[in-house]
Amino acid sequence: MWRFWNWPLTDMKGHKMGRVNKEIKFQKVEYRGKHFSLPLLSADGVRFEPRARLRCRNLLQDSPVIQDLNKPFDLQCFKTPRRPVSVGFLSQRERRSLTRETGAPRVLDMPIKFPGSDVRIPAELAMYESIIRRAFAFEAWVNAECYDEYYCYLTIDKGLVKPGTLQREAPCHVDGFQGNRWNPKVRNNHTYTVSNAVPTAYYIQPFDFDLLDDTKHDFFWEMNRQVALTNSAFMWQPSDSEMTMMDCYCVHRGTEATEEIFRTFVRISFEARIFDRLGNAHNPMFRYAWPMVPRDIEELKLVAFAAGSDPSLRVFPHQNLEGQPREKGAPKTKPNLRPMG
Ligand SMILES: [Fe+2]
Repeated sequence: MWRFWNWPLTDMKGHKMGRVNKEIKFQKVEYRGKHFSLPLLSADGVRFEPRARLRCRNLLQDSPVIQDLNKPFDLQCFKTPRRPVSVGFLSQRERRSLTRETGAPRVLDMPIKFPGSDVRIPAELAMYESIIRRAFAFEAWVNAECYDEYYCYLTIDKGLVKPGTLQREAPCHVDGFQGNRWNPKVRNNHTYTVSNAVPTAYYIQPFDFDLLDDTKHDFFWEMNRQVALTNSAFMWQPSDSEMTMMDCYCVHRGTEATEEIFRTFVRISFEARIFDRLGNAHNPMFRYAWPMVPRDIEELKLVAFAAGSDPSLRVFPHQNLEGQPREKGAPKTKPNLRPMG
């Protein structure tokens, strides 16, 4: 599969660096009914070392996201409600790059930094350089001691979102959950995200998983249930184009669009672990050859902790309320997070 790719390559200040004409080749990957188009990217691109940008530390000290930075994953941390930290707003130019189709490919969890390395962005994704630098400037400042010990992964998702739908249908969840497969637990994940429109919804409330067993229970379905118990009363959203930093205890879910809109979502994740899931994009600016493994939550055969809860809260989006697969193209099942209307 080929897609023509053509846009002016510019540096961080917007100066034209020439026009790039290239065809991007995609590799198709399919497993268990999931389809991925992996762009085959250049080994050339942008490289930089982040420079810490000074912010007002006082504003951050009370944030549990900052307090729990670099600590091992601990389910007890879910009991402390936490709002993502605001990292600031995109410039007009950065925002514009997210509001239209540019030909840059979508990528899922592609490594852009290894422990001890600089940051490397393949040329096809260079248009996101200043947004990525923004996250790294904050990270290098707020996490000066440990930032260089992490892997960093980039996700770019984009496309037209239809009214009443999500860019990616999902239950309430966190990014970087460490389930039964991860023992002992490693450092928790923290992630920078931003989108031009339809910002993610976060649920700033305590979550209690003391009675759950991570070998049996689906924690994301339980997050759905505990959000529904409050009728989504603690939902919070950042603004359009506001970059935030969350950690792996910030429960969230995408938001339904109210009108048709082109949306680009950028995610920059700092992680202690190798992300080797089949479907993740490869960055040829690094030499690595992880065996990529088909992996999804369905294979774990987890069940709901509260078996009698509203069925919409405990099925996958591609299943109907009886847990059977929906036909191809059928609308996804949404969790009813506002049962009281
Ligand atoms: Fe997420």
